[in-house]
Amino acid sequence: MTSFTLNGKKMTVEAEADTPLLWVIRDEAGLTGTKFGCGIGMCGACTVHIGGKAARSCVTPISAIEGAEIVTIEGLDPKGQHPVQKAWQDLQVPQCGYCQSGQIMQAAAVLKDNPSISDADIDAQMTGNLCRCMTYTRIRAAVRQAANAMKAG
Ligand code: FES
Ligand code: FES
Repeated sequence: MTSFTLNGKKMTVEAEADTPLLWVIRDEAGLTGTKFGCGIGMCGACTVHIGGKAARSCVTPISAIEGAEIVTIEGLDPKGQHPVQKAWQDLQVPQCGYCQSGQIMQAAAVLKDNPSISDADIDAQMTGNLCRCMTYTRIRAAVRQAANAMKAG
């Protein structure tokens, strides 16, 4: 049994210790905004927040999350109006959309720690989140816009 908080709600699951958190999020909790891409921690599609930090849920075993606070794209903001989500909407970032919840969760965690981030650091922090549709230019602009909004408070 593993207990943790998912988007503010307590959850307990009975599963093997090496079950990936991503399976629990999608199959047990039914939250399908978090995507399966590579399954080996290399694409970022499955990014969620664990204790406020971006983490790849496909390579996070549930044995590692006992007592942790997990937030998925569904829990980032009650109305989907987090500054990163607003910037994504303003700049119409997504194409197919598959990678985008991971992109948003990565950006939200990075900016929470450092809204004064430089353009070079945005690139460095987002480089592990891949996009088959090559929306990188819009992603970069949206992270910049969200950073400015968060810095302004
Ligand atoms: S699905 Fe987790 S990093 Fe690719
Ligand atoms: S928008 Fe299609 S993979 Fe990124």
